[in-house]
Amino acid sequence: MPKVLISDKLSPAAVEIFKQKGVEVDLKTGLSEDELIKIIGEYDGLAIRSATKVTPAVLAAAHKLKVVGRAGIGVDNVDVKAATSHGVVVMNTPFGNSVTTAEHAITMMMALARDIPAASASTHAGKWEKNKFMGVEIAGKTLGLIGCGNIGSIVADRAQGLKMKVVSYDPFLSAERAAAINVEKVELDELLKRADFISLHTPMTDSTRNLLDKKNLAKCKKGVRIINCARGGLIVEADLKAAIESGQVAGAALDVFEEEPAKTNPLFGMEQIIATPHLGASTNEAQENVAIQVAEQMAEYLTVGTITNALNMPSVSAEDASRLKPYLDLASRLGSFAGQMTTGGLTKVTIEYEGKVTDLNTKPLSAAALNGLLAPLMEGVNMVNAPVVAKDRNIDVSEVRHDRTAHYKTLMRITVVFDGGTFSISGTLFGDRPRIVALGDVMLEASLGNRMLFISNEDKPGLIGSVGQLLGEAKINIANFNLGRNKEATHAVALIEVDDSVDAKLLEKITNLPNVKDVRLLQF
Ligand code: NAD
Ligand code: MLT
Repeated sequence: MPKVLISDKLSPAAVEIFKQKGVEVDLKTGLSEDELIKIIGEYDGLAIRSATKVTPAVLAAAHKLKVVGRAGIGVDNVDVKAATSHGVVVMNTPFGNSVTTAEHAITMMMALARDIPAASASTHAGKWEKNKFMGVEIAGKTLGLIGCGNIGSIVADRAQGLKMKVVSYDPFLSAERAAAINVEKVELDELLKRADFISLHTPMTDSTRNLLDKKNLAKCKKGVRIINCARGGLIVEADLKAAIESGQVAGAALDVFEEEPAKTNPLFGMEQIIATPHLGASTNEAQENVAIQVAEQMAEYLTVGTITNALNMPSVSAEDASRLKPYLDLASRLGSFAGQMTTGGLTKVTIEYEGKVTDLNTKPLSAAALNGLLAPLMEGVNMVNAPVVAKDRNIDVSEVRHDRTAHYKTLMRITVVFDGGTFSISGTLFGDRPRIVALGDVMLEASLGNRMLFISNEDKPGLIGSVGQLLGEAKINIANFNLGRNKEATHAVALIEVDDSVDAKLLEKITNLPNVKDVRLLQF
């Protein structure tokens, strides 16, 4: 039974889902990095929100870990690159808290427009400062959205309901999508010049870090109001403070901060700042959504192999997972065969698909082929990290999907180029069983047993008898004997499934038989 650790406060619904789906679950929150490192080795999955930091040190200790599930959107607390190289899938729940967070942004905008928190505090204090709190109307004002993805577009919809004009700067927003959601797509400078309110909804990346700095704040309309419910660090807090002091910015409503938890901050104490402690996703509905979603996704991955919302792996639906199973097996065995035939530094891998298989999502198949290929050559490779490992080692990997009519219903071919040679293997499925149909230019048909003896030789009489005799003398049973040769009948291959292992001495005897060119014992 797979075992998952929930290390941040998640809705209890997550525990129930894990249990229902046959996953053992422990709940231990508030762990320090060292405490997490001590226990993470026991778990197949780690479910988190934003408090747990999944660092390279944690991942290095996580020998069994297969998946990190983030109940929420931002994965800036997970070292995704390190997770990928450790072969750990990182999943998030991209939609579960979008509405709630968009509502928080709208709430912050309204509160900012009417100074609600300060007015409330003053009234509680018995001051009745009716003249002090003069707000601004938002109807007819321009809202500038920086980032118009899931949350940004919901904010746009709600703002339009409030009769605002919405403009957005988002380099990845298509013109069609902008038109469909009635948002005017503009460049950043134009947004800064026109917006009365600016709301940030981008992820934290190298291109968005410090996006609202001194220079860009100076380009804003005087008296602009700013809302950030995305990530601290998109705004340079010291520059915002200066812009508020100079009157360039009328106020800001911030849910997120450069440093969190934010116990001290240069902006704290300023009247023009509304602050909430990263509450964007904090509604019962959103927390239940993301907890259920993350538990379902993780459990499905650990028990069935379905991949949903992974940041470092292509998605595999439940339907795909069962349809892909035999193809994954074929891809992995062909890859493993090629890996065991690779005797020098691997430089190039071509994975070709023909026939029925091209109707499927071939990305996971290529990952499985690469995993099979690299596993005999290096340690610690799996389907998640195989493409990255190949890239890191400058192995040129390409995937080709042919739409020509295939001789076989499905054909998959892997060709590897390594220092000193090239090797190619083709296979198909007979029913659900993987079957080899060609090795280089030699056509043959062979099933792939767990232990196979590969012999390549000049096509001259006598080899079959000699090999049979040597195996018989060593009391090694032959389960299957498959032969093939090239068109010119100069070169032949024997693929022999054996029931027992063949030791080095016997391999040497076979190698020394007349006309034999190469002998390998392959394990699958
Ligand atoms: P999303 O991926 O759906 O949308 C992000 C948008 O930003 C995309 O459309 C993308 O094209 C755009 N973008 C990327 N780089 C950009 C750039 N340089 N300039 C302008 N736009 C750029 O993400 P989402 O679900 O809408 O989430 C948005 C942000 O909100 C994320 O940072 C997420 O972590 C954060 N978030 C915060 C809370 C909270 O509690 N405060 C809750 C949920 C999400
Ligand atoms: C998120 O990225 O989903 C938010 O930060 C919400 C959270 O989990 O606190």
